[in-house]
Amino acid sequence: MNIAIVGSGYVGLVTGTCFAEVGHQVICVDNDIRKVQSLRDGHIPIYEPGLEDLVKKNVAAGRLSFTDSIGDAVEASKVIFIAVPTPPQADGSVDLSYIEAVAREVAVHIKEYRIVVDKSTVPVKTGERVAITIKRYNPSADIDVVSNPEFLREGSAVEDLMNPDRIVIGVSSERAAGPMKEIYEPFKAPIMVTDLNSAELIKHAANSFLALKISYINAVSLICEKSGANVEQVADGMGADKRIGRAFLNAGIGYGGSCFPKDISAFIHISQDLGYDFKLLREVENINVLQKERFLKKVKEALWLFKDKKIGVLGLAFKGNTDDVRSSVAIGICQALVAEGAKVRAYDPQAMGKARSLVPEVVMTESAEAVAEGADALLVLTEWNDFKALPWAAIKKSMVSPLLFDGRNLLNPVEMRALGFTYADIGR
Ligand code: UDX
Ligand code: UDX
Repeated sequence: MNIAIVGSGYVGLVTGTCFAEVGHQVICVDNDIRKVQSLRDGHIPIYEPGLEDLVKKNVAAGRLSFTDSIGDAVEASKVIFIAVPTPPQADGSVDLSYIEAVAREVAVHIKEYRIVVDKSTVPVKTGERVAITIKRYNPSADIDVVSNPEFLREGSAVEDLMNPDRIVIGVSSERAAGPMKEIYEPFKAPIMVTDLNSAELIKHAANSFLALKISYINAVSLICEKSGANVEQVADGMGADKRIGRAFLNAGIGYGGSCFPKDISAFIHISQDLGYDFKLLREVENINVLQKERFLKKVKEALWLFKDKKIGVLGLAFKGNTDDVRSSVAIGICQALVAEGAKVRAYDPQAMGKARSLVPEVVMTESAEAVAEGADALLVLTEWNDFKALPWAAIKKSMVSPLLFDGRNLLNPVEMRALGFTYADIGR
C-alpha cells in the first residue's frame, strides 16, 4: 500500500517506519524542513529504542522517504495518515488547528479516491469535521475519513506498534475498511472495526482508564503508608486477578508525559461540552498532583529546609527508556526544589539535553555518581532500569547525608537500608 504520514514526530515517524518494515511504501511528511533534511541524512531526532536501525534499513530498501511536500505525498499515496500535534489549550480543551490546517492542505491536492486517517488523539466527532473541511475546500474530492488511534508507549513504541494488542479502525463507510485492514494485516493483531465516533472515544476512554489505574494505586499507596501495608504486595495481589491485571499499578510520583495529562484534561473538557461533569477524572488529576506534593513534603520533612541544600536528582524523563521531558513530574519536582533555593544537580541517561531549557538552574552531570557527590539527599524520579545497577555503596559514601528518596519504587529497600541509606519510597 502507498501510504503518506503527515507529521513525523514520535507517533508519525514510528508509525511510518513500522509500516515500511512490513512492506508498505511510505512517505513521511513534516513541515519542519530541518527535521526532514536530518531524517534524510539518517539522523533520528528522538531517542526511541530500535527506531534508528529500522529507519536506516527501510530507507536503504527504498520503502521509506521524507518530504516537506504534502502535495507530493497525497499524489503518491492512497492512504494519508494525519499525525500532527493536538496540544492542550489553557482551558484544557484540544487545539485542533494543526489538524484543520493539514485537512485543508490535503484537500486541495486530492485528485482521485483517497482515505484520510486520523492517527492523532482527537476529541470525538473530529473525523466528521475533517470530512466536512476536505469537502469544503475540494467539493469534488472522493474521500473517506477514518479514525485509527495509536496506543504506542514512548520507550517501547516500536515494540508496541509491531505487536499491538488490538487495532481500532473507525470508519463511516465500508469502502475504507478493506484497505485499512490490508495495511494492518501483516501485524497479526485483532482488528476491530467500529464507527468513526467510537474509535475516537476509545482512545480517550482507554488513556483515562490507565491514568485512573495509576491514581488509584497512588491513593492506595497513601493508605499503605498510613497503615504499614506494602503497596507493591497489594498491587501484586490485586493484579493477579485477571479482571484487574497488574499493569499500570506501579505507585510513584504520578503520571506525566505528552499524553496522559493532556488526554485526561481533554476528556474532561469533551464530556463537559457534551453536558457531563466527569468528576471521577477530575479526582484522577487531583490525586496525581497530590502524589507529587506528598513526595516533596517527605523530602522537606527530612531536610527541614530546601534552601542551599545540595539535592541530587536521578532521572528527568517522564518515564524510563525515553528522552522525552514533556509534562515530566521529575521536571516539576526540580522546579519546585529550585524555587525554594535548593542547589540541584541531575543526571538522566537520555533526557538531559531536552531538560536543560526547562530547568536552567539545574546542573547536569555526566554520571549518577557525580550527582550524589557531596549531596544532602538523592531523589530517584524516573524509572530507568540502569539506576538499579549503580554502585550504591560508593554513592552512599560520597554523600554528605545518606538520604535516599525513591519516587519510583525502583530500588530494593532492604538492600539500600543494609548499605546505610535512610531510604524512603512510595507506600512500601
Ligand atoms: C502528536 C500529538 O501530540 C498527539 O496527540 C497525536 O496523537 C500525535 O501527534 P507526537 O508525534 O508525540 O504526538 O508529536 P510531535 O513529536 O510533536 O510530532 C509532530 C510532528 O508534526 C512534528 O515533527 C512537527 O514538525 C510536525 N508538524 C506539525 C507538521 O508536519 N505539520 C504541522 O502543521 C504541525
Ligand atoms: C501512554 C499510553 O500508555 C499509550 O497507550 C498512548 O498511546 C500514549 O500515552 P506514554 O505516555 O508513552 O503512553 O507512557 P506510559 O508508559 O503510559 O506512562 C505514562 C506515565 O505514567 C509515565 O509518567 C509513567 O511513569 C507513569 N506510570 C505508568 C506510572 O506512574 N505507573 C504505572 O504503573 C505506569
